[in-house]
Amino acid sequence: MKIAVLAGDGIGPEIVAQAVKVLEALGRDGLKLEVEEAPFGGAGFDAHGDPLPEPTLKLAQAADAVLCGAVGGPKYDALPRPQRPEQGILRIRKELGLFANLRPAVLFPELVGVSSLKPEVVSGLDIMIVRELIGDIYFGEPRGRRANARSEREGFDTMLYSEPEIRRIAEIGFTTAVKRNRKLCSVDKENVLETSRLWREVVSDVGKKYPQVELTHLYVDNAAMQLVRAPKQFDVIVTGNLFGDILSDEASMLTGSIGMLPSASLDAKAKGLYEPVHGSAPDIAGKNLANPLATILSSAMMLRYTFSQEAAARRIEAAVKKVLAQGYRTPDIHEPGTRKVGTVEMGDAVVAALQS
Ligand code: NAD
Ligand code: IPM
Ligand code: MN
Repeated sequence: MKIAVLAGDGIGPEIVAQAVKVLEALGRDGLKLEVEEAPFGGAGFDAHGDPLPEPTLKLAQAADAVLCGAVGGPKYDALPRPQRPEQGILRIRKELGLFANLRPAVLFPELVGVSSLKPEVVSGLDIMIVRELIGDIYFGEPRGRRANARSEREGFDTMLYSEPEIRRIAEIGFTTAVKRNRKLCSVDKENVLETSRLWREVVSDVGKKYPQVELTHLYVDNAAMQLVRAPKQFDVIVTGNLFGDILSDEASMLTGSIGMLPSASLDAKAKGLYEPVHGSAPDIAGKNLANPLATILSSAMMLRYTFSQEAAARRIEAAVKKVLAQGYRTPDIHEPGTRKVGTVEMGDAVVAALQS
């Protein structure tokens, strides 16, 4: 099992080091893992003048799976768009055909007190957000800048989905729901957007093949509200790239912290890129403050989805649960009566819990 490790910027290297430690611990127990690192994002720009340097892309293409930290930071914000770290992540998703982004929002019972919602609203929460990842306004053409008739500057982007793009992500939504509680909520803005009208038609059509799944539709504004009003009504949510980006950050807070949300980005053959949902957190970078659990949980998703190592994936998830039960908390999930630790100590605690 070949894993390309792209740590990136900010807290990226700190959190990825913890996940690699966990994978290496499993390696000592017999899992045959090969890990190779390459510069990516701002680090890619610093090393090669490109956020996705050619050797990094080659490594990712040759690997079975990719583990990413996060990219971006103030140092790179003024660069022209093609050189910006965020373009590295968008390009690698596109190059590898990673159209299906799975973002599970699961509340560990130990963290019910740090969720921003009341315990009775969130306890037992287990949602899967299925976000389309290589279409929509993120990639639609044309886009750019121009001057209008009054010589005012305009910026424009194109929101666009083709029927096959909607169909394949809808399939992932339904098959995911079939394996869970058989409820799928499709989120769109059908009352306003032409893209969303097609989205809703196609998702409904795919739904005819899955009579066992209860399909509902919500407008994205209502979905955003329902997520904080009564999040447990959701089982699987399927949505486009932009809405999924926003709703998954929102959902992360139900679980206590964005530092808890892992993700898997898959192609049609379950090759995948695994990364936390959060960014490079420049405000806490280099201070041993970042929560590595989202990245560690992403490595569990890697074992599950790309390597079909369900037992090993569960071992990591059980180890995370154990360290939380033992009271270990990074600052983002700390509350009185628990034990505040840094990034490295949290990683060590997970490794120790794996072994016990
Ligand atoms: P962010 O997710 O980096 O940070 C938002 C807030 O959450 C910050 O206060 C941060 O300290 C906190 N946070 C994030 N991850 C944490 C963790 N693991 N532990 C504890 N706290 C954590 O979002 P932002 O500030 O909007 O963006 C910062 C940079 O990251 C930008 O350059 C952005 O483009 C980039 N970004 C990258 C990715 C990615 O690489 N996939 C995702 C999102 C944002
Ligand atoms: C995410 C991030 C990215 C996105 C950015 C960094 C391009 O916010 O993975 O959620 O918008 O997809
Ligand atoms: Mn995001």
